[in-house]
Amino acid sequence: MHFFNYRGNRFYAEGVPVERIAKEAGTPVFIYSQKTLKRHYRAFDGAFKGVRRLICYSVKANSNLSVLKTFAKMGSGFDIVSRGELFRVLKAGGDPSKVVFSGVGKRDDEIEYGIRKNILMFNVESAQELRAIDSIAKRLKKRVCVAIRVNPGVNPKTHPYIATGFKKNKFGIEAKEALKEYVYAKENLKNLSLTGVDCHIGSQITEIAPFIDALKKTRNVVETLRREGLDIRYLNMGGGLGITYGDETPPHPSRYGKEVVMGTKGLDVTLIFEPGRNLAGNAGILVTKVLYTKKGTLKNFIVTDAAMNDLPRPSLYGSYHAIKPVVMPGGKKEITADIVGPVCESGDFLARDRDITEVKPGDLISVMSAGAYCFSMSSNYNSRPRAAEVMVLGRRFFVVREREVAEDLIKGEVLARPLFSGG
Ligand code: LLP
Repeated sequence: MHFFNYRGNRFYAEGVPVERIAKEAGTPVFIYSQKTLKRHYRAFDGAFKGVRRLICYSVKANSNLSVLKTFAKMGSGFDIVSRGELFRVLKAGGDPSKVVFSGVGKRDDEIEYGIRKNILMFNVESAQELRAIDSIAKRLKKRVCVAIRVNPGVNPKTHPYIATGFKKNKFGIEAKEALKEYVYAKENLKNLSLTGVDCHIGSQITEIAPFIDALKKTRNVVETLRREGLDIRYLNMGGGLGITYGDETPPHPSRYGKEVVMGTKGLDVTLIFEPGRNLAGNAGILVTKVLYTKKGTLKNFIVTDAAMNDLPRPSLYGSYHAIKPVVMPGGKKEITADIVGPVCESGDFLARDRDITEVKPGDLISVMSAGAYCFSMSSNYNSRPRAAEVMVLGRRFFVVREREVAEDLIKGEVLARPLFSGG
């Protein structure tokens, strides 16, 4: 549940009219509801009441410092995939001893940074990475906790680009191989402490069964490793629990929690979770202004000041995001239209063939469920400055990231004289 609602015909973010935010902060603008972020965190964490767990918010979903700080203050840990994300977590006051470092391609400098900052553990995705971490740890005279990411070979039934648990995917190590690697590492990689088993099968998963399948397989791995004499203390279930964008009915975190707790009964581990979308997705909206409307030969178009560079999910995955008028127009007629941005590609759309109340230039519309994987995936394509981000707190709001300006677009670019001094 989120706190974006109509009061009369006006759309509100918590206690603030969205129109007011757009007027003061400009458009396009991302608006986050802190109350919603907190509510989602509590719902997820509360689903595991009574069991040892660590919620590691997946930073990639939305890495705004104020979002990270909101979670850090609630006691959350963090799932990171780069040096940049760890930098952000530390800036936001996150506790490094609650950080897990995932990803198939960690560079040496990233591993070193993680070790120096004393993160909780690395989720390791290949035999070579295991050796790389061991040798860097040795150089730094440290012992480093690791979990191997086991690829359980299950079908998460989600978009192919965000499914990771198939055998054909680049992620993790197949269970049998992983067991060998654990045993090898125990004997030979003396700067590693093999304390966890990790798994993540994909994102926007809307059924419980794939999680349970994966859990059965990873539980098996934990038990086998213990028989081999390894002291496995953590089982990381990854992220992936889906949300409602349109008509999906994903399991509520409490149901997910119940099933996971049941499936791990008697295992005596600390459970780690890496939710991203589930915490942030429905805690944000993108508000954009209608620039023009036009009637093509075959279609109606609504051209907005937000584009695929601001919110790439529809172009990238064909994703659905609900669209709502910021001021509900009384008695206007419904049309079917493509809602498109100014970027020079036909793939630049926020919605296609959408039934929407007729709008006119200057009207504001809100793209729903834009709290996860929207700003964090935005770019400067077409030299478009990135949008502002705002966080709402009750009846107040704060710009938590300023809109970029033209100078930001060329930051770091250099006109090297010799390139232009010749004829
Ligand atoms: N842990 C790992 C290792 C991951 O790779 C991911 C997401 C998560 C946790 C968090 O998953 P979540 O709870 O948010 O589903 N850009 C795509 C989503 C990519 C997800 C990548 N990995 C989208 O917009 O749908």
